Formats: sequence, structure tokens, C-alpha cells
Amino acid sequence: MAALTTVPEPRATRETHATALRLEDVEVTYRRGSVEVSAVRGITLDVAPGDFIAIEGPSGSGKSTLLRVMAGLWPPSAGRVLLAGQDLTDRSDSELALIRRREIGFVHQLFNLLPDLSAADNVALPLLLDGLPADQIDRRVEAALAQLGIPDKGPMRPEELSGGEMLRVALARALVIEPTIVLADEPTGSLDRNNSQNVMEIFHEIHAARGTTIVLVTHDQDIAAGAGRRIRLVDGHAVETLPRRTGN
Ligand SMILES: Nc1ncnc2c1ncn2[C@@H]1O[C@H](COP(=O)(O)OP(=O)(O)OP(=O)(O)O)[C@@H](O)[C@H]1O
Ligand SMILES: [Mg+2]
Repeated sequence: MAALTTVPEPRATRETHATALRLEDVEVTYRRGSVEVSAVRGITLDVAPGDFIAIEGPSGSGKSTLLRVMAGLWPPSAGRVLLAGQDLTDRSDSELALIRRREIGFVHQLFNLLPDLSAADNVALPLLLDGLPADQIDRRVEAALAQLGIPDKGPMRPEELSGGEMLRVALARALVIEPTIVLADEPTGSLDRNNSQNVMEIFHEIHAARGTTIVLVTHDQDIAAGAGRRIRLVDGHAVETLPRRTGN
């Protein structure tokens, strides 16, 4: 069983840019009528290719907001977000959708599986949207479900799955595109210890085998301790609590 306390060095790095992701003075203010909520108040962060980062912080500290901004799912109110050198903040919606579909594996806090599609079709979705041939899609979906330990769950709809299985489907959908970066919002939040360890082993395997950059939000101290870098959000600011290791 892979230890949760160490991050192996990535074997291969697909990314050629010096930074996988860069945030420059990012601010996010939500506006609802006359009410403003300042969720992110100025964060500058460099994520190197192959980094394994845990984002921590109390409820409401802006963790999900930050992850959505990193994925180009939410525009920052100020500042810039660069994914492998490309500025996401001046891209059109369709360009952003394409970048997300090809480069970013995003695991939502509440999974966001489409309820009327089978598990297999949920996983296939990004590949279908990208126009891959059906036989390739089938092969990759099957491999992704097997990798996540649910090879027989393809035909089931989300409501027929347990919480742990739904997460695995969401993770399979994120990984099936072989993303350069995976952004996961409290992926193990609803799992028991055993399931949580299994899921973390998958993250560590992907990281070690493919050099995939991983940023995950977690409340779990053991999981955070297993990351290469730990970043705590406090009052909309980021504090690095475990400095980046050299060479990682
Ligand atoms: N779409 C939105 N519109 C208005 N306010 C929002 C929106 N999304 C988040 N917020 C507010 O921004 C702040 C940060 O929310 P966020 O979801 O990023 O926190 P979080 O750290 O992920 O919390 P949790 O640990 O509970 O998931 C909160 O005060 C929240 O109410
Ligand atoms: Mg959240």
C-alpha cells in the first residue's frame, strides 16, 4: 500500500513549460445585488509541473473558488491565471472549454455527474466532445474504470452508485483525458478511511507514473501531509506551510 506521507518524484513530465499554472494577484469578489463577498483577496502562486499540492483552510475560506479560477471555470475579478503559459483570463468561453477538455481534469466537490447518463457515458463525455472514434473511447473508458477499481460499474447510473463509486466515476472522467493537471475539490471528503486511502493511492500513482500536476483541496491532515506542498487559505490569502521540495 502506497504511503500517504511521501510523494514520489514524478517519472515523466509531459509539460514543457517552467510553470504548469501561475496565479498573479488573483482576486475574486462575488456580487449578489448590493452584497459583495471577497472570497480571494490577492493570491500569487506558481505551480511547477509535477507539483502535488494540498490546499487547506476553513469552510468559506475560498478553496473551491480558487480551484474554479485555476480551472478557468470562474473568471477572477482581478489578476491573471496562466495555464502552461497561456493566459486563461483573455480566452473566449469556447477556447476555455477546449483547454479544460484537453488539459484539465477537474473533480467537483459534489462530483457533477450527469444523472441520466451511465457511469461509462459520464466518463466518455470529454472524449465524445473531443470527437474521438468510438472504439478508442470505449477502450479508454474501460481502462479508466478499471484503474479506479470499478470495472463493472459502467452501465450503472449515478443514483445506483455509492458515494465512493460516484467519486471514482468523477475521477475516471477527470483522468480519461490524460490531463496535464488534475484539480480536485475535497475528493475524499465523503469517504471512510479505507476508501479515502485507496483514492489517494490512485492520485499518487497518476502523479508518479505520468508526472501529472495535482492540486487538491482537503480537510484531511494525513492527505495534506502526503502532498509535496501545502497551502493554507486564510482570509482570502494563501500561506505556504510546507515549502516546495527542491526538484519537485
Ligand atoms: N457563486 C457564489 N456567489 C456568491 N458567493 C459565493 C459564491 N460561491 C462562493 N461564495 C462565497 O465565497 C466564499 C468562499 O466560498 P468557497 O466555496 O470558495 O469556500 P470553501 O473554502 O470551498 O468552503 P468549504 O470548505 O465549505 O467547501 C464563501 O463566503 C461563499 O459563501
Ligand atoms: Mg469548497
